Amino acid sequence: MAIQWFPGHMHLTRKAIGERIKDIDVVIELLDARLPGSSSNPLLAELTGHKPALKVLNKQDVADPTRTPAWLAWYNARPGTSAIALDASDAAPARRLIDACRQLAPNRRGLSKPMRVLICGIPNVGKSTLINTLSAKREAKTGDEAGVTKQEQRIVLDDDFYLWDTPGMLWPRITVPESGYKLAASGAVGRNAYDEEEVALELLAYLKQHYAPLLDARYKLGLDAAAIAAKHDDELLELIARKRGAVMSGGRLNLQKAAEIVLTDLRSAALGRVTLETPTEFEAWLAAAEVQEKERAARKAEQLRRNERRARNAPRDED
Ligand code: G4P
Repeated sequence: MAIQWFPGHMHLTRKAIGERIKDIDVVIELLDARLPGSSSNPLLAELTGHKPALKVLNKQDVADPTRTPAWLAWYNARPGTSAIALDASDAAPARRLIDACRQLAPNRRGLSKPMRVLICGIPNVGKSTLINTLSAKREAKTGDEAGVTKQEQRIVLDDDFYLWDTPGMLWPRITVPESGYKLAASGAVGRNAYDEEEVALELLAYLKQHYAPLLDARYKLGLDAAAIAAKHDDELLELIARKRGAVMSGGRLNLQKAAEIVLTDLRSAALGRVTLETPTEFEAWLAAAEVQEKERAARKAEQLRRNERRARNAPRDED
């Protein structure tokens, strides 16, 4: 079963972005550095595709530091796009954002041509935290209570640099199943949209291949990487349940509780720093999803043709 979510503010946000975009010079998309491909919103690409883009791989402190450079290079290789990695401990995020945006739109400078930037991101990616830091920094710098202007969610980062915030937005239909699981595991999706045990099993299927030593250290499995990778996902979840005392009366394992433990440990980084996809993996998932989408569209078209044929051949009421 794939993950299907309720996209929340999608319609309102979509409308707001659509109205604002013509006056925007750079679109910042905040991504989760643990899933830099899956946390990128395809709907946003549709709405803002032609604008210079700054991809901010946020929460880099909990992502795998050996994988983040590959993702930065992947995004930097795209036309009109640059990428930086960031986390909440950064002392001067405004400077880094301003510098990166100025490089993307060097002609926007001065009060007559201020830089106008839109900042977007999926829920839980850390946007409020970043916006609060940016606002606080500006306030501290100017010592002026009105230093941060919040009109229609507009934040003045520099005298000629305006940032418009948008509510966290997901997209209407998940076409890449792997992305759905990773978004759910990361906490971007409301709990009602997925089954925690199923998501934890998918997560373990990935972790056992790529981060077995972290699983061993966290849950004291006492197994080497090869033995962990060889375990069936269900077996692994059962083992974690046993190791963490997730047992119900009568001795039955509480797999729901074990799943919650695994998901919480990922989100809090108690498990360690992990990144749940590489650019190569993500590209392969996208390509497979595209094929599936084409097949789906073809099936739908065929069904329509069949219905039309049936309607044409059906005896009419007056016959
Ligand atoms: P949002 O507006 O995009 O929905 O996200 P928000 O800033 O509310 O952040 C979501 C969660 O991510 C919060 O944790 C926040 O503390 C955490 N977070 C934000 N930036 C970073 C970062 O750079 N690194 C890490 N590791 N975490 C970050 P929470 O547990 O949901 O809330 P709280 O207990 O921190 O208040």
